[in-house]
Amino acid sequence: MSDSDLVAAARKAREFAHAGYSKFKVGAALETAGGAVITGCNIENATYGLTICAERVAMFKALSEGHRQFRRIAIVADTDRPTPPCGACRQILWEFAGDVPVVSVTEGGSRKLYRMADLLPEPFEF
Ligand code: THU
Repeated sequence: MSDSDLVAAARKAREFAHAGYSKFKVGAALETAGGAVITGCNIENATYGLTICAERVAMFKALSEGHRQFRRIAIVADTDRPTPPCGACRQILWEFAGDVPVVSVTEGGSRKLYRMADLLPEPFEF
């Protein structure tokens, strides 16, 4: 699968974002080792604090469906510059996907490629 296919899946997932409070919609798409694509969008909540990011929705969906190995993740947001995952998502992505590439793309077409080991140096592990 090409990067653009995975980004297209993340862009489609973004349409389902439940982001009425922040108005900041995010889509994510995880590629599993077997080639499946599992998507997520951010889901906000009236308490604000129970909001969950697109990246964690994608990862928790994937884990709950039995996927355990991942190749990469794509993120789409409508920002000036590509957005990297937040700190909480970095911890989760590191634990379950390891040092995968993170492709972040804006709706305007800017693109940045990160690696998890650069985004989360010295992760908490035990
Ligand atoms: N958000 C994500 O879904 N992913 C990120 O990487 C950063 C932030 C969401 C959480 C919240 O719904 C909105 O964006 C604003 O922070």
